Amino acid sequence: MSNSAAVTPNDLSAFWMPFTANRQFKKAPRMFVGAKDMHYTTSDGRQVLDGTAGLWCVNAGHCRPKITEAIARQAAELDYAPAFQMGHPKAFELANQLVQLAPQGLDHVLFTNSGSESVETALKVALAYHRVKGEGSRFRLIGRERGYHGVNFGGISVGGIVSNRKMFGTLLTGVDHLPHTHNLAKNAFTRGEPDHGLDLADELERIVTLHDASTIAAVIVEPVAGSTGVLIPPKGYLQRLRDITKKHGILLIFDEVITGFGRLGTPFAADYFGVTPDIMVTAKGLTNGVIPMGAVLVSSEIHDTFMQGPEHVIEFMHGYTYSGNPIASAAGLATLETYKEEGLLQRGTELGPYWADALHSLKDEPNVIDVRNIGLVGAIELQPIAGEPTKRAFSAFVKAFESGFLIRTTGDIIALSPPLIVQKHHIDELVDGIRTVLRAIP
Ligand SMILES: Cc1ncc(COP(=O)(O)O)c(C=O)c1O
Repeated sequence: MSNSAAVTPNDLSAFWMPFTANRQFKKAPRMFVGAKDMHYTTSDGRQVLDGTAGLWCVNAGHCRPKITEAIARQAAELDYAPAFQMGHPKAFELANQLVQLAPQGLDHVLFTNSGSESVETALKVALAYHRVKGEGSRFRLIGRERGYHGVNFGGISVGGIVSNRKMFGTLLTGVDHLPHTHNLAKNAFTRGEPDHGLDLADELERIVTLHDASTIAAVIVEPVAGSTGVLIPPKGYLQRLRDITKKHGILLIFDEVITGFGRLGTPFAADYFGVTPDIMVTAKGLTNGVIPMGAVLVSSEIHDTFMQGPEHVIEFMHGYTYSGNPIASAAGLATLETYKEEGLLQRGTELGPYWADALHSLKDEPNVIDVRNIGLVGAIELQPIAGEPTKRAFSAFVKAFESGFLIRTTGDIIALSPPLIVQKHHIDELVDGIRTVLRAIP
């Protein structure tokens, strides 16, 4: 059967697609059937430049032989091992390598299968940690407006994207939110970290005063908010959050699902900003997006707090059938090796200025109200069409796909995050393509 025969519209109804306008998609499907390095191949045989590393995850580019071969080898050697009360070497090896790569002090790893599960795991660790320490009154979790922490109940409770929350009842109780940091009036067209907004971190003091520190377990933020449309923290903001959380005995959780594994030109955003959290949430780039896997890194202080009581008793009642799955672990090890061999985690630093110049050249294009960038992430915010929010950016997305490049849109914001193997000529192609699209759409 040819590829196109496999994707005739009549076949499409059974799969209720995630975060997708299903009826629109199924009327005019956009199908990928292959990928290599910086490009996808569509079902009608076109090459599409990947401007988004899949969904912010294929950091080493597509179908890299080292990773695909490691997966095939592992599947033939040890396909699955029970995750509870049993082990296999590669999960331990991967945990050790992650600890080596992570900021100093994050010395222990819990494996999951996605960013959403990593978030739930981190929140549960935080709550249980305080309880084991005898501070069970610390039950509150503080997130941030416009934050995205996946789609499970904990994640949408601390998350701050209204459309992801409003359908789902009461969510977790005992959650409060910091204000978001987006301020176009003061910070539009900033390169890197904006100058204005450090004071927004002080809102945490207000929240602590309101609830009392003795009731607060953790604060969770994305160092750079990705899914809401690339909101870059104001200068000094994350350090201020670190200072306030430390002062009050509150854990700081960085959700690095997007920012981890080189997106900002350093292994993690924690390295970029020089701020180390107590818990770091990762997924996506951990396995180059190829096999579902996430990892939560925690400090020794947190880990060691659990390691008490009779030795035959399970210390933390949490885990997944696939935690540290052998094939995912093999993919993770091969991915980290690829990053290291090719210097990919530093690419964002090398290419950052070129990337910034290219993006900011779009400043005067039609309907552009902001351009922002950090590492190898960028966003172009568009003026919404009056009364029809999201429509302009969605038109840009469809037109871009038809023109041979993949962008991501959220609201009326175009978000870009190419694979870290991107070359200057790809950046030119992507940005020139967006320029053409912006001039063509209403
Ligand atoms: C910051 C952040 N946290 C969590 C998630 C959820 O990850 P997943 O879709 O793998 O569950 C995402 C996904 O985009 C994310 O960007």
